[in-house]
Amino acid sequence: MALTDLKPWTFFWSLLVFLFLHTVAGMSGWAGCLDGQDVFATIKENSRSGDVVAELVADTVTEGVQWSVVGKDADWFFLDDRNIRLNTSADKILDRETVGPVLTAELSCRVEDIFQSAYRIMVEILNENDNLPVFTEKTAQSLILSELIPVNTVVFTVQATDADNDNIIYSVDQSSPDAEFFKVSPPNSGEVILSKPLDYETKTLLNVTIFASEINTAEHHNTSINISITILDGDDQYPQFLPCTLLFQDENNRICTSPVYTVNVTEEEEDIVLDFSPGPIFAVDGDRALSSPISYAILSGDDDGRFRMERETGEMRLAHGVRDRLITPVLRLQVMAYQDNDPRKYSVATVLVRILAVNQFYPEFDMAEYHGFVIAGKTQSSLVNTYGSKVLMLHVQDRDFNQVSPVPFTNVVHVVLKCLRL
Ligand SMILES: *[C@@H]1O[C@H](CO)[C@@H](O)[C@H](O)[C@H]1NC(C)=O
Ligand SMILES: *[C@@H]1O[C@H](CO)[C@@H](O)[C@H](O)[C@H]1NC(C)=O
Ligand SMILES: *[C@@H]1O[C@H](CO)[C@@H](O)[C@H](O)[C@H]1NC(C)=O
Repeated sequence: MALTDLKPWTFFWSLLVFLFLHTVAGMSGWAGCLDGQDVFATIKENSRSGDVVAELVADTVTEGVQWSVVGKDADWFFLDDRNIRLNTSADKILDRETVGPVLTAELSCRVEDIFQSAYRIMVEILNENDNLPVFTEKTAQSLILSELIPVNTVVFTVQATDADNDNIIYSVDQSSPDAEFFKVSPPNSGEVILSKPLDYETKTLLNVTIFASEINTAEHHNTSINISITILDGDDQYPQFLPCTLLFQDENNRICTSPVYTVNVTEEEEDIVLDFSPGPIFAVDGDRALSSPISYAILSGDDDGRFRMERETGEMRLAHGVRDRLITPVLRLQVMAYQDNDPRKYSVATVLVRILAVNQFYPEFDMAEYHGFVIAGKTQSSLVNTYGSKVLMLHVQDRDFNQVSPVPFTNVVHVVLKCLRL
């Protein structure tokens, strides 16, 4: 008979057998077996081997009466005179979370090896806070976020469980590298909220540690998880003309100004590609990882079609030359570079075209050779005269210039001097 599933009717049959034994055999000691009682007890989780679970209310002294613990969880107990004691060992720990909340067994009574009666043993294991919270597999340890995610949105959720069923709250470890970007709100939700804007241009990877802590226990056990967040580039930067001049940079900002593209052309020059300094007109998308295609256009100053700009390359041509540099010494244009996929994202740069004079002619002296006279004497300097007692004057003309100007081209003339003695 399986004592583990002792039903009332089997117990009844046992009783009949027992009565039969009593009447027929007339043995002594059987009365001791009827003294027993069901055992209901509690014991703390993690109790040690030998700890008393309950005291037996039964006759243990009568000769021939044998009590034993049998049934499902019998191995957890042993009898020691009147005590039911706990049977554990180093690798058999009374852990409520693995064994379950209740141990059940039977107290069996025999007289001279013949079963007489059985009583229930039910021992509840009292919970101790012997487990840390554990993050569930649903809690991702690495994730990807777009830099465009607005502040105050839930960016991810963490979840931990506790085998002791303790209440858990979550918090950001303020000593983790990028704690400032996140907060958990409300604390028991595990919902992690972005508290500072992300910016791919200054930070592409964040690391944060989240705690899961018990709140309703004395021990306040906690566990933590490290989460790494990869930031994806979003379209939040404008095109940037190159080479740009860095004005200001810190960990959150980088401000760079467009160059002024400058070129010199001469009067009348036309239908030429302008070769700008400090470099060709060229812009890149400020969102490095996106690198959207850029187009170019003249915003202002094209002077009724004097200039043409290639939309795709930014190459600029001077279609019609300037006739008179004295009226128009410089042309100033505004050009824009914009994203093909979003023309609202554009930048503007200034273009200066300086008109220089055409320099076709050499300066010319009015004579092929000049003749002059100086008076011999001790003076270190004296006027040079020429025929007719006139002071020798050299006349130079440059057909490029109507007025006196710097002369980039040079010419040479001979001056023949004769020395006169007075
Ligand atoms: C205690 O438990 C162990 C292992 O479950 C078992 O082998 C041993 O017999 C038990 N000890 C007693 C006194 O019941
Ligand atoms: C987590 O536990 C450690 C060690 O017990 C303690 O130093 C730390 O303050 C706890 N953190 C939280 C958030 O409870
Ligand atoms: C243009 O000419 C001026 C002199 O008129 C010179 O100083 C300047 O360097 C030239 N610029 C370029 C881009 O060639």
